[in-house]
Amino acid sequence: MLVTRCICFRATFAALRKLVQEHSWSSLAQVVRHTRAGTGCGSCKPYIARMIETGATEFTVAEGGKPPQPAPGSGAQGFQEEGPGMKWVGPGREIP
Ligand code: FES
Repeated sequence: MLVTRCICFRATFAALRKLVQEHSWSSLAQVVRHTRAGTGCGSCKPYIARMIETGATEFTVAEGGKPPQPAPGSGAQGFQEEGPGMKWVGPGREIP
């Protein structure tokens, strides 16, 4: 199962990312203040924070206190945790 939205406010991370880009928001607080996403149950906040950080809009379910991980093909760019190391998930080569 992938996490793709704030369920309480029916806001997809893709729609939120578009707003983040349009308004140059750089923090979870800004997204929450302007969209109200994250002000219901709050369970989407770690995902919104990772969306801001990585650009990803689809995530695997976060477990064990680890940050949410972008799903393959989620639009993420940059280095992401994978197993014991890091993996480049943007365009270009993968770093083992
Ligand atoms: S899922 Fe976003 S506030 Fe509940």
